[in-house]
Amino acid sequence: MENKMEEKFPLIGDKLPEMEVQTTHGKRKLPDDYLGKWLVLFSHPADFTPVCTTEFVAFAKRHEQFKKLNCELLGLSIDQVFSHIKWVEWIEEKLGVEIKFPIIADDTGKVAKKLGMIHPGAGTSTVRAVFLIDPNSVIRLILFYPASVGRNMDEILRVVKAFQISDEYKVAIPANWPNNELMKDEVIIPPPTDVETAKKRLKSKEFECYDWWLCHKKI
Ligand code: BEZ
Repeated sequence: MENKMEEKFPLIGDKLPEMEVQTTHGKRKLPDDYLGKWLVLFSHPADFTPVCTTEFVAFAKRHEQFKKLNCELLGLSIDQVFSHIKWVEWIEEKLGVEIKFPIIADDTGKVAKKLGMIHPGAGTSTVRAVFLIDPNSVIRLILFYPASVGRNMDEILRVVKAFQISDEYKVAIPANWPNNELMKDEVIIPPPTDVETAKKRLKSKEFECYDWWLCHKKI
């Protein structure tokens, strides 16, 4: 039997691999050109397709909000740069929306293959992948959506904000934050890992607790 080497894709906690990429805004070095910034690197199946067009409009409408979070957007598909340029022109002419962020022209599929963005069961184009990369070039979140369902850009904005708060205050972020069913916009204190702290926690005036392992506070 053939002994195929298993391909290893980068995962959460890994550094984004170093690559030089061609974009609609010229060449970029990944991840170095984005050091010190958050980066949403996202792939779409193809230019001039309906769901992808709605996604680009949705990202463009929120571009300023991403920038306010020190977060850049970078698209990618297995298309030539000429196709990206024509598509971006079409979106501006027909829909009145300017796409101001760069798009990687990965016409050889090299970047997509390295990041595992091509699902073997879904043809030769990229799935709707999202890699959220932090200012130290570490991959913090990976989302994969199929071609048939567009992503929710408000959720992507939410997770950027959530990671920034989690990192700054060393807290965890509850479901549906900032509209959580139990604690609204408050955040979770990491549970204690020793008996002494567990006992003290319920007496603490700093937090509100459902129990010693489920405490939350305002930030
Ligand atoms: C779309 O964006 O509409 C799409 C792209 C690839 C396959 C199916 C749908």
